[in-house]
Amino acid sequence: MSPHAAQAQHLICTAAERVDKDRVGEKNAVWLRRLRLSNFRNYESLDVEFAPGLNFLYGPNGSGKTSVLEAISYLAVARSLRSSADSEVVRWGEDGFGIGGDVEGDAKSRRIVLRFTRGGPKEVAVDGESIARLADLVGHLRVAWFSPEDTWITKGGPEARRRLVDMTLCQIDAAYLTALGNYKRALRQRNEALLGWTPDEESDRVVDAWTEKVIDYGSRVVAGRAALLPRLDEAVSRFHGAISGEDDLSLGYRSSVPLEGAVDEEAVRKRFVFGLESCREDERRRGFTLVGPHRDDLEVRLGGRLLRTFGSQGQHRTAAIALKLGEAAILDSDDQGVVVLLDDVLSELDERRGVALVSHIGSHGQALVTSTTRAPGSVAPDAGAAFFLVDDGEVVRQ
Ligand SMILES: Nc1ncnc2c1ncn2[C@@H]1O[C@H](COP(=O)(O)OP(=O)(O)O)[C@@H](O)[C@H]1O
Ligand SMILES: [Mg+2]
Repeated sequence: MSPHAAQAQHLICTAAERVDKDRVGEKNAVWLRRLRLSNFRNYESLDVEFAPGLNFLYGPNGSGKTSVLEAISYLAVARSLRSSADSEVVRWGEDGFGIGGDVEGDAKSRRIVLRFTRGGPKEVAVDGESIARLADLVGHLRVAWFSPEDTWITKGGPEARRRLVDMTLCQIDAAYLTALGNYKRALRQRNEALLGWTPDEESDRVVDAWTEKVIDYGSRVVAGRAALLPRLDEAVSRFHGAISGEDDLSLGYRSSVPLEGAVDEEAVRKRFVFGLESCREDERRRGFTLVGPHRDDLEVRLGGRLLRTFGSQGQHRTAAIALKLGEAAILDSDDQGVVVLLDDVLSELDERRGVALVSHIGSHGQALVTSTTRAPGSVAPDAGAAFFLVDDGEVVRQ
């Protein structure tokens, strides 16, 4: 066993023992009881029942652990949080995939079913009734996904940090999800119009038409993010303080829109109009949109300084955990429950951080944690955690 694997094994045992099993499942939060798959990644078919608290999935590389988490992300947001296209997750040689989830909640359980056929649309049904718009799926099941790449979320480019904010908002606010989707489409069209721009009236008219849409949807997106930030900042710095013992992590929203303090949608819109006017010539010369939520960043500061520019590996990892726990806390802020998906991150973390992470998520309700290491079976019954062996497209509870 490699030192990493041994460490992960030790972490799983320690963390499982430390999770207060009485807290898990106590507050009727939403959790996923049963998952069924057909022709999804390497699963020809799968039918598995999870526990309401901690679920450890272990098995060799390439056995299908991440794919299980990915399928669960479809039940929450109707797409892959691994950022794959729908056609990529269809089992090789097949025409489409199906995912079914039985979700337990406050009062009643729900059955979510999602189907995709190559070349066709995605179909989603809740309790047998098909859903016309993706936004209507919002709220049935919320997930927070944490992958090894996320351990560098405070160091890399702004895209991953924007995605964290967007994925949080999309799951608590259906209107945000709609606005973001519309913004992305309008932005693509506007960029095309700018790329093909020639100095004539017709060209200007096309650009202007898309400018209006970009401002419309973009203002909603920016206002949504600006409103989330103080709440996220509060939650993240609290977790960071608890893990590191220091009290100096802060988040800020740095927008390409010259906000000048604007937060509500109308004020943001005015600033957005101004921002786009200021770079009118520049945009036409360069052929793409220079101002808007697609260029924004979530700034993470430690002791007032930008973590991205000076942080040590340990500081980045602690900040990443705090960010992810903050995200989970926001998703769970109305006690609605969030399913935390931790993909192979324990081997990336040292003992203190790993244990802090897993014991915190235990208090949020359900979590699925993947690892390549087999944890000793004797730990499972005492710790209130369920263990599953994943092997070549099969998942078997131990
Ligand atoms: N569309 C697909 N159809 C069939 N198999 C796939 C598809 N996409 C990936 N795979 C295979 O599925 C397996 C499971 O991948 P993954 O869930 O990432 O494994 P793990 O997380 O356990 O390492 C891999 O062996 C991969 O080659
Ligand atoms: Mg994996």
